[in-house]
Amino acid sequence: MGVRRQLGGEFHQVQIQRGVQSIHKAVAQLNPEWRLNYHFMPPANWMNDPNGLIYFQGKYHVFYQHNPHAVNWGPMYWGHATSTDMITWTHLPMALAPSEVYDYHPDGGGCYSGSAIDDNGTLTLIYTGRVVGENPSSGQCLATSDDGIYFEKHSENPVILGPPISGLKGFRDPKVWKHGEYWYMVVGSGRGDKGLILFYRSPDLLDWQYLGIAAESDGSQGNMWECPDLFPLGDKHVLIFSPMGLERLKTMYFVGDLDYESGKFVAQSSGELDYGRDFYATQTFVDAKGNRVAMAWMESWDGKHPTKQHGWLGALTLPRTLTLGTHGQLKMKPVEALKKLRQNELVYADLDVFDHEALFLTKGDSLEVQFTLDLSTTTARSFRLYLRSSPSTREETALVINLVEGKVEVDTTLSGVGDKGITSCNYKVTGEPLLRVGLYLDRSSLEVFVNDGEAVLTNRVYPKNDSLQVKALSIEGKTHLKILRIWELKNDSGARP
Ligand code: FRU
Repeated sequence: MGVRRQLGGEFHQVQIQRGVQSIHKAVAQLNPEWRLNYHFMPPANWMNDPNGLIYFQGKYHVFYQHNPHAVNWGPMYWGHATSTDMITWTHLPMALAPSEVYDYHPDGGGCYSGSAIDDNGTLTLIYTGRVVGENPSSGQCLATSDDGIYFEKHSENPVILGPPISGLKGFRDPKVWKHGEYWYMVVGSGRGDKGLILFYRSPDLLDWQYLGIAAESDGSQGNMWECPDLFPLGDKHVLIFSPMGLERLKTMYFVGDLDYESGKFVAQSSGELDYGRDFYATQTFVDAKGNRVAMAWMESWDGKHPTKQHGWLGALTLPRTLTLGTHGQLKMKPVEALKKLRQNELVYADLDVFDHEALFLTKGDSLEVQFTLDLSTTTARSFRLYLRSSPSTREETALVINLVEGKVEVDTTLSGVGDKGITSCNYKVTGEPLLRVGLYLDRSSLEVFVNDGEAVLTNRVYPKNDSLQVKALSIEGKTHLKILRIWELKNDSGARP
């Protein structure tokens, strides 16, 4: 695919330089209090969705929705970073900036979410060019790079000018992949009160044929489906999207079959990808070993966003490997590479936790904890693991195993200045009466993986600096942990200023 230099190519680079300068200034003013140790974050200012996740020529690329000029959402750039292990990231200049008639407006719009592909050795981004204002419009656009750093917008943009049918609400977030001879694209949209996914095919990334609606809400699954991703997993296809208009539910998935000829996706099972509050706009890619890996925005649009006062907003979840369970459920586990961050292991074998006094375990704000709870010898109504707990005032984040209701809960009521409340998921016990839980605490984030990733809960917390204790307590009875292991996790995000 030939790339011709854009008329507006110079303005694009000017816009990027403006963004880079804003970031340099903002980095110097950051308050590091809630910065993360081993998660991806913008160097400063605003980020939302992960975009263009790809393993390309030996490197992982993360792009992301970024406003380098402010801590609030604004005209969207694509931030950019690379990594060789998905853990330590090197920040690069922004890849895309609003600069053309189809994406530039001083009040917003810009280069909205999208994906990346390897087009026969050329790193190619596909994104939504969005103009706001009196005559809003959205089109799907291409940009390519020769060196993996500087990107040029294609002269034929937008390669898809607008929605294929009238009456749609939203037309954005293209995810593109290759299957056989063709490129395929899903785009998020909605009509009436139903979210839906539009399906396209192209021989060359320029000429796109609309094949129809791949999937649509049954009326209860949100009115606009943002950030769709459709990909093969095992002998099935999985559709992931973030529904708008549902209060609690943030990212859904369907597992089923895709007919590439008709563009129809038929779902056989469905579920929630993560039960926490801070999980949105998931995107997947294939890693160096051929595993399907997902990352999401570790924030929510309706959150309190306390880090804005500190000069930044937004982070990505840990990269998580996706697999299918035996009943068609999607499972997520942190990638293996994380294990190299482990240090100073603490092991408690056959630990009984009683109900009279909380048991002090360790101190830290950057930890991995893995435990196996023996349900057959546990009599307690609930087991509570307190994190970021303060010795003096009552500040703590509680991971609660609710043994009466069969639930895992994260209670942020006393966590500090962020959003308060309980998020929860059910746990299932099959075979041995054991419950396995793994958690990753990273200063202002907590990701909890239940039973090897059958359910996940992701939440942000904003405690005081000195709330560092980790304690365990049983409520009304005894909890028996067959094993409890705790590691400190090294600061290795590479993203801390
Ligand atoms: C999802 C989203 C996308 C859009 C982007 C704009 O969080 O609303 O649909 O492309 O954010 O920043």
